Amino acid sequence: MEDTFIRIRGLKKHYLMGGTLVRALDGLDLDIPRGSFSVVMGPSGSGKSTLLYLVGGLDRPTSGQIEFNDQRLDEMDENQLAAFRRRMVGFIFQSFNLVQSMSAAENVAFPMQFAGLPGKERTLRAQAALESVHLADRALHRPGELSGGQQQRVAIARSLVNDPALILADEPTGNLDSTSGISIMQLLSELHHAGRTILVVTHDPRMVPFATQCIFLLDGVTVSESAYRAAAGLK
Ligand SMILES: Nc1ncnc2c1ncn2[C@@H]1O[C@H](COP(=O)(O)OP(=O)(O)OP(=O)(O)O)[C@@H](O)[C@H]1O
Ligand SMILES: [Mg+2]
Repeated sequence: MEDTFIRIRGLKKHYLMGGTLVRALDGLDLDIPRGSFSVVMGPSGSGKSTLLYLVGGLDRPTSGQIEFNDQRLDEMDENQLAAFRRRMVGFIFQSFNLVQSMSAAENVAFPMQFAGLPGKERTLRAQAALESVHLADRALHRPGELSGGQQQRVAIARSLVNDPALILADEPTGNLDSTSGISIMQLLSELHHAGRTILVVTHDPRMVPFATQCIFLLDGVTVSESAYRAAAGLK
């Protein structure tokens, strides 16, 4: 009984760079089922980050449709998009994107500033989010006093505080050693089992066993696994 959460049709993102047209996405069709753990695999430059930014409402398509819960993201104005990002989406990036001068707890509480919650509620929620990533004992540490894996867990806690239905992750294990990388994948898998929809873009094949669907991207379009493996020189 699959229920489509995000329906993408004919999605294009083109850039004009010094007279050359770059087709970062070139007519992509994709369905993300509600509650799925979807993994998009693709080589560098295939359009993975572009796709994630468009789905998260951080950027706008050149053309095509993104339907989210029957709402058209590509037709929203800036205010509607900002509200969409705040309520529906949690972002996780390869480079963690934490504020170095703030503690783990302050970093996690940061997105709640814009949700109009009272200070006490923000502190309690930040603490609960840090507990959910097993970092309650590091609440007062700054990013520079945490390992890479711990920093990524802080970023995951931050992505959770506004209780988003959708978590978008761009190469979340890209800067981590293999042990920390696996613990991040397990954490994402826990979030998936708790009912959230997860969309990860990566070239890390260790993500694949966690996926409920795996999508292959080459040159801004989806291709079959066999075409992808042939292009990547795999058997
Ligand atoms: N702002 C931009 N202006 C011009 N071209 C861009 C811009 N952003 C991305 N591109 C181009 O679009 C293509 C897709 O880029 P994208 O960042 O989505 O790739 P990616 O799959 O995330 O790669 P990586 O694995 O290296 O992160 C690339 O050819 C890139 O050079
Ligand atoms: Mg990228």
